[in-house]
Amino acid sequence: MATQAKPDLTSAAPAHGARHVAIIMDGNGRWAKKRLLPRIAGHRAGVEAVRRVARAAQDMGLECLTLYAFSSENWKRPATEVSDLMGLLRHFIQSDIDEFHANGVRLRVIGNYKALEPGLVDLIESAMARTAANTGPVIAIALNYGAQDEMVRAAQRLAQRVASGELSAENIGIEAIDAELYTADLPPLDLLIRTSGEQRLSNFMLWQAAYAELYFTDMLWPDFDGRALAQALDAFRMRDRRFGGL
Ligand code: IPE
Ligand code: IPE
Ligand code: MG
Repeated sequence: MATQAKPDLTSAAPAHGARHVAIIMDGNGRWAKKRLLPRIAGHRAGVEAVRRVARAAQDMGLECLTLYAFSSENWKRPATEVSDLMGLLRHFIQSDIDEFHANGVRLRVIGNYKALEPGLVDLIESAMARTAANTGPVIAIALNYGAQDEMVRAAQRLAQRVASGELSAENIGIEAIDAELYTADLPPLDLLIRTSGEQRLSNFMLWQAAYAELYFTDMLWPDFDGRALAQALDAFRMRDRRFGGL
């Protein structure tokens, strides 16, 4: 794949005003079904959409794009589909990491990725380490991610710190919880997009979405592209965010 240096647009605040966009990439199976293709064909087309949208996010000056790729509940799917998805993911990281790195992108994986198979864990960790010092946008892939798991993990870590005397229970506030989440060092979530017409969060970023704007589109994920992202950002720009104030 051609690697092309992109200008660093993150320093100039873009007109849409969004720093962090997250996407629940849904509808690969239905996209394939409409074409009488196997579900894996939908997932393959979904990877192409990831490439397009990751590039568009860089061009549009987002600081962070978080993509929900595999939920902690997706293990309920047939083993063949789970293994197809893991294979696509492995291939995606291997083939695209050079381009991300050349463009100054920081690749992050959030979720309990350490429970994946060891070869994939190594690949993820080396991709994150290689791009960690880059100064461009973050592309965060949520893998084996569940927001409830994330919060349980945060509660356990805080409880351990209280038990060891390092922290007192009264000092657990919003910031202490924020700091224990996978997203601790990412900008606050501005816009949460879900494709495929479903209007639910499916255990994604429940805490972080407290004041995110929600945007639902009937478009199936493999059809999503830079134009669709621009439309979502246009809609975001028109929203009146109040955060409880006036
Ligand atoms: C989203 O597409 C991809 C993952 C959840 C991994 P789906 O596979 O959920 O597609 P639909 O919802 O069956 O159409
Ligand atoms: C949410 O999609 C998870 C991802 C996009 C990775 P699902 O297709 O798994 O969600 P449900 O089962 O329809 O809620
Ligand atoms: Mg789905």
